[in-house]
Amino acid sequence: MITSQILLEISQKYGTPVYIYDASKIREQYYKFQNVFSSFSHEIHYAMKANENIYLLDLLKKLGAKIDAVSTEEIQRALQVGFLSKDITYTPSFPSTNELDFAMENNIKIHIGEIYALEYIMKNYPGISLGLRINPANSIGGNQKIATAHADSKFGIPLKDLNYIREFIQDKIKIDTLHIHTGSDVKSWSDLANSAQILFEQVKDFPDLKYLDLGSGFKVKYKPDDVEIDLESYAKFIENQLNKINKKIVIQFEPGKFLVSEAGYLLVKVNGIKQGYRKKFVGVNSGFHHLIRPMYYDAYHEIVNISNPQDIAETYDIVGQLCEEDTFAYNREISKIKPDDVLAVKNAGAYGFSMSSEYNLRNKPKEIMVDDGKIYDISVT
Ligand SMILES: Cc1ncc(COP(=O)(O)O)c(C=O)c1O
Repeated sequence: MITSQILLEISQKYGTPVYIYDASKIREQYYKFQNVFSSFSHEIHYAMKANENIYLLDLLKKLGAKIDAVSTEEIQRALQVGFLSKDITYTPSFPSTNELDFAMENNIKIHIGEIYALEYIMKNYPGISLGLRINPANSIGGNQKIATAHADSKFGIPLKDLNYIREFIQDKIKIDTLHIHTGSDVKSWSDLANSAQILFEQVKDFPDLKYLDLGSGFKVKYKPDDVEIDLESYAKFIENQLNKINKKIVIQFEPGKFLVSEAGYLLVKVNGIKQGYRKKFVGVNSGFHHLIRPMYYDAYHEIVNISNPQDIAETYDIVGQLCEEDTFAYNREISKIKPDDVLAVKNAGAYGFSMSSEYNLRNKPKEIMVDDGKIYDISVT
């Protein structure tokens, strides 16, 4: 476990803002995930969009993870890190024909979510095996922006189109995977099970099926009293479903957040404090260009004053320094803050650096990995 002391030392050595990842936490989460689903044959395709740092990818590769990529650039990075083509799945949204060609030429399995892409591949790459991303039309997920399988979502092929697809492809291409990804931050395992059930019901209609890819969505604890999703019950549900179907199917998962979120911290420094009409603002040397989740998804991230952790708590709005309303936390009680204190934003390992930008021409943070007591600068420049 990374202590506040280690975080402070890193902030002194490398400056702030800085992302810090705890390798031991990533390992712990990986093994936890693998063990929960160990009663049936499964593959873990890390959703690299959560954190694309090459050293972190290498760590996951060594643990045995495979990859789910969503762009040609992600595929290229995964290949660069040493993942084999056969271990990479590609789940694009509205891909261009160039992007489809790239995947085909590199022997990457595509999960197709649009019929135009299916038609293109059938015409240009007959005989190929593909996955179909299905939209089961049920709405789950922590926030509407991360609910990806409701009837009005752009993702996936509507169930009503499956008959047409089966008639249209005949035996010209093989559908060996059915895929769903219903959203992120899903609290209840039974919500995930309801979506998975829809996929299991399709198995009988796809004779070439080898994989069911159940995507991800596993909630992690953001608030101290948050409940983690009950993976054991979900695993039992999947095991029962597999026992019911008379076919050898490998289950694929695409966890992102579950593997890397809790391993990450964003350290920021307090530039100044201001008393407004009603609120006390703490302005830090960061903003939504470094961590957009609180502003984009209304996500809660615990914030700790690691320079002064044990003082009397006061109520603050923690804000960034962009020319925007970039608020990390509203009315948050935090141990008394003064200028130059270092604040640790927790649970920042997923969709933190990977969603960062250089908005306002500000630099991105450095990235540091702590592994077995050693500190590595893993910033990719
Ligand atoms: C297709 C797909 N798979 C997997 C994931 C990973 O989800 P999570 O980070 O919630 O595990 C995402 C994230 O949005 C996704 O779009």
